[in-house]
Amino acid sequence: MTRTPVNVTVTGAAGQIGYALLFRIASGHLLGADVPVRLRLLEIPQAVKAAEGTAMELDDCAFPLLSGIDIFDDATKAFEGTNVALLVGARPRTKGMERGDLLEANGGIFKPQGEAINAGAADDVKVLVVGNPANTNALIAQSHAPDVPAERFTAMTRLDHNRALAQLSKKAGVSVADIRKMTIWGNHSATQYPDVFHAEIGGKNAAETVNDQAWLENDFIPTVAKRGAAIIEARGASSAASAASAAIDHVHTWVNGTADGDWTSMAVVSDGSYGVPEGLISSFPVTTKDGKWEIVQGLEIDDFSRARIDASVNELAEERDAVRKLGLI
Ligand code: NAD
Ligand code: LMR
Repeated sequence: MTRTPVNVTVTGAAGQIGYALLFRIASGHLLGADVPVRLRLLEIPQAVKAAEGTAMELDDCAFPLLSGIDIFDDATKAFEGTNVALLVGARPRTKGMERGDLLEANGGIFKPQGEAINAGAADDVKVLVVGNPANTNALIAQSHAPDVPAERFTAMTRLDHNRALAQLSKKAGVSVADIRKMTIWGNHSATQYPDVFHAEIGGKNAAETVNDQAWLENDFIPTVAKRGAAIIEARGASSAASAASAAIDHVHTWVNGTADGDWTSMAVVSDGSYGVPEGLISSFPVTTKDGKWEIVQGLEIDDFSRARIDASVNELAEERDAVRKLGLI
């Protein structure tokens, strides 16, 4: 039976992440090897020509699952009928710039995009915000889409999650596939808290297995939390292929479910779990099933973890207050 193509809108399609992302979506990695997709690309007018070039290359790949590509410079049109919206387009942080500086510049992009999603997206729309500051941009978009259930707006901490898996696997000398239940809490920023106290290596508690508190505090946590800045320092540009890969992972897991006995990290709207104020879009351990996510409940949070979660959540609350003051939510 021929399936109806899923409409996938990608903003910032002509950017670095867009270039790494689109070919993987079109080859079936986002939704599955049997799911046809129709790409709807949104760019600013000056970058439409570059997006057209990428579309030519996508054509040239002759991907059997790619049923069409449309390019827009108008958000309302780009989000019409969209089932999956990947909000990547934003101004990337450059050397020496803190993410807080980006709030105002990027806030203006996500308000009209939230309104456009509200106006025309499909009833089952799922939104992933990648453009930074991702959590707060997701909050802005979500607050301008009152008719879309708030849980459909998510922000990406899967890159941080994957970075944490990679660092822990190196330290423990195991494959990333042996690690389960990694968690990123809070904001996609340097305050994020990568938590190994509930993680498992080969079924055993990861923190106990590694048994090296100094490494945890002085190496693991700062390496993961500041990895974005380290990549910018090394490449002279923010992470792109790894960010695209994490976006693929995020949506694939949301749609297809987490494995039994495992969870993932997603920034989702808080229901007050773990003391995170209701309404903030904060990263939590989540399980997914049938296209829906749930925050993992009942984890014990010790004082060490509590202080770090609170610090990141406080930053999110400050970002929320700042965009509220700017009239963006
Ligand atoms: P880039 O500058 O290469 O591309 C951004 C693209 O967005 C450009 O082509 C630009 O024309 C486009 N754009 C700008 N405003 C737009 C709008 N209103 N509508 C549609 N398109 C618009 O940047 P990049 O390297 O692809 O990064 C994109 C964003 O992703 C940045 O904000 C970056 O900080 C963020 N990022 C997030 C994570 C994460 O883990 N959440 C990781 C890496 C990068
Ligand atoms: C990353 O984590 O690689 C990016 O979010 C860094 C950035 O600020 O663009």
